Amino acid sequence: MNDPEIKSPRAKKGPPKPSFCLSIFNSPPFYLTLLLLSFYVGYFTATSNSSSSAPATTTNNFSSQLQTTTTTTAATVTTLPSDFDNEIDNFRVAPNCIDPIPTDLIRETILTRVYGGASPFDNFPPPHVANSLRHRSLKGWGSKGAVFRHLIEEVRPKIIIEVGTFLGASAVHMATLTRQLGLDDTLILCIDDFRGWPGFREQFQFINHINGDVMLLYQFMQNVVYSNVTDSVLPLPFSTGSTLSRLCQWGVTADLIEIDAGHEFNSAWSDINRAFRLLRPGGVMFGHDYFRMGDNRGVRRAVNLFAQIYGLRVQTDGEHWVIHTS
Ligand SMILES: C[S@@+](CC[C@H](N)C(=O)[O-])C[C@H]1O[C@@H](n2cnc3c(N)ncnc32)[C@H](O)[C@@H]1O
Repeated sequence: MNDPEIKSPRAKKGPPKPSFCLSIFNSPPFYLTLLLLSFYVGYFTATSNSSSSAPATTTNNFSSQLQTTTTTTAATVTTLPSDFDNEIDNFRVAPNCIDPIPTDLIRETILTRVYGGASPFDNFPPPHVANSLRHRSLKGWGSKGAVFRHLIEEVRPKIIIEVGTFLGASAVHMATLTRQLGLDDTLILCIDDFRGWPGFREQFQFINHINGDVMLLYQFMQNVVYSNVTDSVLPLPFSTGSTLSRLCQWGVTADLIEIDAGHEFNSAWSDINRAFRLLRPGGVMFGHDYFRMGDNRGVRRAVNLFAQIYGLRVQTDGEHWVIHTS
């Protein structure tokens, strides 16, 4: 038999000794060390990025989108002046929102939770104010701007939230528009403490007061009654901050939100951040006085900062700013 294994001189001496390099590749401890090394490298790389990749805990789809963009916030904030940080941290203590309730339950929810189940327009006006009200007084500011028709035609909202209502000029205008467009079920929630602002009665002396209690809410309600839109409009006579947060806790969301309450930066910033959480996917938020100088362009600075942080685009329509969610 011609067996090369037996005849080979090497075969008689046993297998050849591999060189040091070759022997290391054949050794199991080498591969074990390699494995451990890659594990540690991977672990430390992942840990250093963990703040931006942590999964968001959210209550609904749109909130997840917000949480995701909040990730961007953290990155962006580091480039902002430090005095902005507190504003953003303040907003992070906002209460949890629940999943949106169905649209057709929103009126009932508000009536039950705010008015004990009755309409605030029942038996209006109460006798002690009846003689102090004007039949109709709808002074506003840009309250009939083209933006209202544009957005109502575009969004065809079922729920509108107005943040800052005063006498109801823009609310009544929106109610009229929705009816003209056949949106008979649209509900407009008007958030305003109906206090106006310190000294506002110098300009609005016809709005009476009883022992310092100004009758702005009553005159607003009278305007709604006179305009025959009580089915479309519901007042929420509280501060904007507490009301927007509470609506989120009640699962009340909106298709269209108008921001027109306090115009200095802190107020506008707080309202915009809280209101945005209530927007449904595809909803639109807009507001007045984007160009106003009076409050050192507080509205404009708040809108622009918000859009920058969340990667959204600000459009303008007349004196109004507009932000689409999609
Ligand atoms: C410019 S007016 C709203 C005008 C209205 N959108 C219109 O066009 O006819 C601002 C309103 O915001 C209200 N407001 C301001 N800050 C508020 C706050 N923190 N909470 C509740 N209402 C507030 C004031 O009472 C006032 O009626």
